[in-house]
Amino acid sequence: MSLPQEIIRKKRDREALGAEEIGTLVQGIVDGSLVDAQAGAFAMAVVLNGMNRAETAALTRAMAGSGRRLTWPDLPGPAVDKHSSGGIGDKVSLVLAPMLAAAGCFVPMVSGRGLGHTGGTLDKLESFRGYDTRPGLDRFARVVREVGCAIVGQTDDLAPADRRLYAIRDVTATVESEPLIVASILAKKLAVGTAGLLMDVKVGNGAFMTDLATARGLATAIAEVAAAAGLPTRSLLTDMNECLGRTAGNALEVGEAVAFLKGDARDPRLAEVTLALGAELLVLVDLAPDKKAARVVLEGCLDSGAAADRFARMVRALGGSGDPLHPSALAHARAPVQLPVPSPAAGHVREIRTRELGLAVIGLGGGRTRPDQAIDPAVGLSGVLGTGRKVDRGEPLALVHARDEAAGEAAVARIAEAYRIGDAPPALRPVVVESSP
Ligand code: URA
Repeated sequence: MSLPQEIIRKKRDREALGAEEIGTLVQGIVDGSLVDAQAGAFAMAVVLNGMNRAETAALTRAMAGSGRRLTWPDLPGPAVDKHSSGGIGDKVSLVLAPMLAAAGCFVPMVSGRGLGHTGGTLDKLESFRGYDTRPGLDRFARVVREVGCAIVGQTDDLAPADRRLYAIRDVTATVESEPLIVASILAKKLAVGTAGLLMDVKVGNGAFMTDLATARGLATAIAEVAAAAGLPTRSLLTDMNECLGRTAGNALEVGEAVAFLKGDARDPRLAEVTLALGAELLVLVDLAPDKKAARVVLEGCLDSGAAADRFARMVRALGGSGDPLHPSALAHARAPVQLPVPSPAAGHVREIRTRELGLAVIGLGGGRTRPDQAIDPAVGLSGVLGTGRKVDRGEPLALVHARDEAAGEAAVARIAEAYRIGDAPPALRPVVVESSP
C-alpha cells in the first residue's frame, strides 16, 4: 500500500490515481490517519490537475462506502432523488419530493444549507418549529418507508469521508473543482441507496453556472460518473435568470410551496420545472411509459391533494409542530416590516440581476455570512416579478420582508438596482433550457 504522501505527490505531478490509491486516501480521511494538511493538499492537487472520469467514479464509490449505506430491498417502489445545483427561490424539492412519494416513489433526500448567494432546502424546512433536519439514519429511513419522502441533512454516519473532506475544502479554497463536486454530490446519493437521480443544473445569472457550456459540462460529468458508479441519472438544464416562483427567503418559500401543493397558487415557471423534472424521473425508473403520461400522474397527485398530504405527514414525522398546511404553522416566521420596491419607470421587466436578489435576502438576515450563523426564517421577498412582466411606474417589483426599517430600505435599494425596465418586452426564455442526452 502506498504512503499517502506518495499518492498526493502523484496527483501533484498530474498522474492518474488508481482506485486502490484513492481508497487509501479516503480510508485515511475517515479514520483520521490522514491529517488535515494532507487532505487539503490532495484536494488542491485535484483542483489544479483534475481527475479523469474513472478516478472521479473511484472517489465517488470510496466516499459512498465510507460510512453506513441504506438499502431498500423490500420497498414497493423505487428509491429516487433529485438534486439542484442551487439558485434563487428554488423550492422545487419541497414540492417535488411529496409529489413523487404520492406517485409511488420513495425519496430519501439529503439536502444542503444555503451556499453562497443561494438558499438551502434545510434552512427552509427549519422554518417549521421542531423540524429535525438531522434525525439520524434510522429515523430517516423509517420516515421514508412510512411517508414516502424525507428531506434531511447529512448525518455523521452518511458518507463521513465527504463530510470531513468538504469541511477541509471549505477552508482551503478547494470547493470549486468539478470532480470533487461531482464525487461529493453522488457519494451521498449512493450512500442513501438512490436508484434513480434527476439533476437540475441551474444556468443563468442567479446560478453558480452562469453560462451554458459550464452547465453542460457539470451535467455531463455527473451523468458519466453516475453511470460508472451504477446510478441511473438524467439532467435538465433550467433557467436561473430570475427568481423561481414569486418568493425568495426561507419561510416565504415554504409558504409558496404549501400554496402550490394545495392548489391555492401555482407559479407557471415553478410548475413547469417541477413537472418536467418529475416526469423525467418517473420515466427513468419505469413508473410511466413516457413524459406525457408521467405529467398526468404528477398532476393527479397535486389535484387529489395526495402530494400536499405527503408533505404534511413528512413535516410532522420529522418533528414539525402544528398543521404544516395551515398558515398558523409559519405564523411565528412573519417579519414585522414590509416594504414595496417601486418600479422606477413604466415598461417591461427586461432583465433581472438575480444573484443580487439572493444577496439581498442574505443582507436581510435570511442567509449566512459565516458558517455558524443563525438565520432569520421570516425575512426575504414575496411578489417577485419576472422578466417580460409589464409594469406601471411605482408598481411593486417585489415586497421586502425585513426585521427593521433600515435593513428593509437597504434591500429595497438593492432590488431596485437589480431590475432593468425598458419599453419593449424582452424575448422570453424557456424555463427548461435543455435536457441531457
Ligand atoms: N454540494 C455538495 O454536496 N458538495 C459539493 O462539493 C458542492 C455542493
